[in-house]
Amino acid sequence: MNISVIGCGYLGAVHAACMAEIGHTVVGVDVDEEKVGLLSAGQAPFHEPDFEELLAKNVDAGRLRFTTDFAEVADSQVHFIGVGTPEAADGSADMTYMTSAVQSLLPHLGKAEGHSIVVGKSTVPVGTADSIEDAVVEAGGILIWNPEFLRESFAVQDTLRPDRLVYGVSKDEERAQVSQDILDEVYANIIGAGVVRLVMDFPTAELVKVSANSFLATKISFINAMAEICDATGADVTKLAEAIGMDDRIGKKFLRAGIGYGGGCLPKDTRAFQARTEQLGLHSLDFLTAINEINDRRRNHSAELAIEALGGDVAGKKIAVLGAAFKPNSDDMRNSPALDIAKTLADAGATVVVTDPAAGPVLQRKRPEITVAANAHDAINNSEVTLLLTEWDVFKNLDPTTLAPANKIIIDGRNALDPQVWKDAGWDYYGMGRS
Ligand code: UDX
Repeated sequence: MNISVIGCGYLGAVHAACMAEIGHTVVGVDVDEEKVGLLSAGQAPFHEPDFEELLAKNVDAGRLRFTTDFAEVADSQVHFIGVGTPEAADGSADMTYMTSAVQSLLPHLGKAEGHSIVVGKSTVPVGTADSIEDAVVEAGGILIWNPEFLRESFAVQDTLRPDRLVYGVSKDEERAQVSQDILDEVYANIIGAGVVRLVMDFPTAELVKVSANSFLATKISFINAMAEICDATGADVTKLAEAIGMDDRIGKKFLRAGIGYGGGCLPKDTRAFQARTEQLGLHSLDFLTAINEINDRRRNHSAELAIEALGGDVAGKKIAVLGAAFKPNSDDMRNSPALDIAKTLADAGATVVVTDPAAGPVLQRKRPEITVAANAHDAINNSEVTLLLTEWDVFKNLDPTTLAPANKIIIDGRNALDPQVWKDAGWDYYGMGRS
């Protein structure tokens, strides 16, 4: 099938490569010429395990191409929209890219043989699909909403074998059936592998995405609130999480206490969902204010720990920060807790040296004011305090006896280290809710 993917950021680029991988002929469209140039050359614009191989393989096979020219979508029967919906100043979702993608797409609908299907994948405020359906239909297309749940650093795996596929369909029964059948055909390989498909109306499908992310954020802030209580009472939040997580109703995932959530999705999606709910005149999500506050407090807490460990004054002192990406196996630093903490310490006058296997080189290029070390040993050398803020394996596997800091003080912002190993090597170890 001929497919177009509009918006080749994280979501769109991975989706385009995965659709080509399962046998479709795919054109990816983006306004960013540099990105289109890289993708066309089979080079990933971001660090994502397995993505570059998949991209290069499918570009070479002639099944996948990228362009800035919208007219090239005309022979596609299915158009995925995967543009960003970033956070606006008031916390709501900025819909500029979505509006412009739809406007640019409309003149090209109905040109290919058969039905033209527009598949919304971006995370949007509830009500968006209803608000654009008429324009799509008038232009000769059918709209279906198919939210994307991929996690960065597992993006390929999550796209090819998602936990579930969600289809939000039109109230018009014929349109609903046609769009569902065509999307089933697109995903035949995925559905054939046993992935469950859930069909619902537009608003429910839109809500599935934002409520899932809000639930995940709530889980993380819940365990971080427990970490605060553990710190005050001498309890251990890692043991607490293990014990409550064994109850299937709670589940053990997303109960890792630490410096809180970051990235391009959870912080922005929870705020946008709350803003949208308030627009609807509801206070149902007021509790998300507390979830956000807990998350912000975690960042301040680790910075304060470092400052306290150095007697309240970090001016001119070397501090090693292990990690800059918002999570391991990624170079994404959007809303990264690690980078935020590094900035707080630098603002307090410390000489902060950051290292990160993937984000480090990007940081060096984009933020020359930040000192970046090639590896953890260099960053830690002569440092007065060390903070582990992104739990890359290479940091988790460090042998503390081989390091040469000025002070053996480690703040484990992700509870990723074995405290005993570090204490045995003579280090003062500070965890998050497990000191
Ligand atoms: C998230 C959702 O998981 C995904 O389904 C959605 O499509 C996009 O948003 P992602 O942003 O890639 O994915 O990251 P995720 O793995 O969810 O982690 C988000 C943040 O939470 C990271 O900063 C991570 O370090 C933090 N986190 C996660 C914790 O602090 N504790 C945990 O237990 C889990």
